Amino acid sequence: MSLDTSLSKPHERLAALLADDMAQVNALIRERMASKHAPRIPEVTAHLVEAGGKRLRPLLTLASARLCGYGGPYHTHLAATVEFIHTATLLHDDVVDESAKRRGRPTANLLWDNKSSVLVGDYLFARSFQLMTETGNLRVLRILSDAAATIAEGEVLQLTAAQDLSTTEAIYLQVVRGKTAALFSAATEVGGVIAGRPEEEVQALFDYGDALGIAFQIVDDLLDYWGGEATGKNVGDDFRERKLTLPLIKAFAAADDEERTFWKRVIEKGDQRDGDLQHALDLLNRHGALEATRQEALSWAAKARDAMGRLPSGEMRDLLIELSDYVVSRVN
Ligand code: IPE
Ligand code: IPE
Ligand code: MG
Ligand code: MG
Repeated sequence: MSLDTSLSKPHERLAALLADDMAQVNALIRERMASKHAPRIPEVTAHLVEAGGKRLRPLLTLASARLCGYGGPYHTHLAATVEFIHTATLLHDDVVDESAKRRGRPTANLLWDNKSSVLVGDYLFARSFQLMTETGNLRVLRILSDAAATIAEGEVLQLTAAQDLSTTEAIYLQVVRGKTAALFSAATEVGGVIAGRPEEEVQALFDYGDALGIAFQIVDDLLDYWGGEATGKNVGDDFRERKLTLPLIKAFAAADDEERTFWKRVIEKGDQRDGDLQHALDLLNRHGALEATRQEALSWAAKARDAMGRLPSGEMRDLLIELSDYVVSRVN
């Protein structure tokens, strides 16, 4: 299949290039989200899965496997596993964050309830493990099960750091690496492992996914302040949840006494009033915190690009490099 240059976003071009594999992945997802006994499971899952989503993580697995010259049948299982893990974490995440909108739709926790989201998320996690065992490759099982544990660790670390204005950029990085980058790096690493590539290349794939995932989440945290409708999510969720994301950490570090009083009221005490989100945004701008955060994302994107430089050249590598630039400029 040839590259469709009318598609401007690199992940859309990846999807076009990997369309046959991706169709198999989507078929696997539909097949494995079924349940013989509990119709609530496919109802809730379909609501989220059919709303789309960028399918970035499975595309990363398929692209990595292709880049590594993999010719076997299991890359689609791994890609579906990765998207199942992602879908499960989104169901759980929207409960934890009390979010009302995802992929432009009301969240499952709003349409059904928290219990359904948690339990269906658990089901999808279990299904993802069933899927990956079918590859019979112990090393990819270890990578993906480690990633699942690391994601949960990152989420819990974030929970305990929320409302805590002494949270440092180092702790933030640990959270982001756990909750988001762990799945990106596992997604790319397993592509190289299943293809039996040398360790230096597997490491380069891991490093690429790690840096890409960190850049991606930093941008997500920026978009939470000024992304608007295009994100398909509600703006201001992080502020409302009193999360110490990078823009806030940077603005708080630069705050004067009056500003510190404001941050303590809204973040530590949780006393939030009309106009506070706008005022927070003004403070982020005043201290250049949004721009500094964007620079941080750019520097992680550059690390991702460097890691790709250690892999075989070609169309797939070029697209993955472009993807690292795209994640910093994305709006959804
Ligand atoms: C959302 O991920 C969760 C984060 C890590 C920020 P995506 O932005 O990849 O979500 P979808 O799958 O495209 O909806
Ligand atoms: C997403 O975290 C990470 C996981 C799903 C584990 P966020 O809570 O920051 O992502 P959004 O903004 O809700 O997509
Ligand atoms: Mg969330
Ligand atoms: Mg969250």
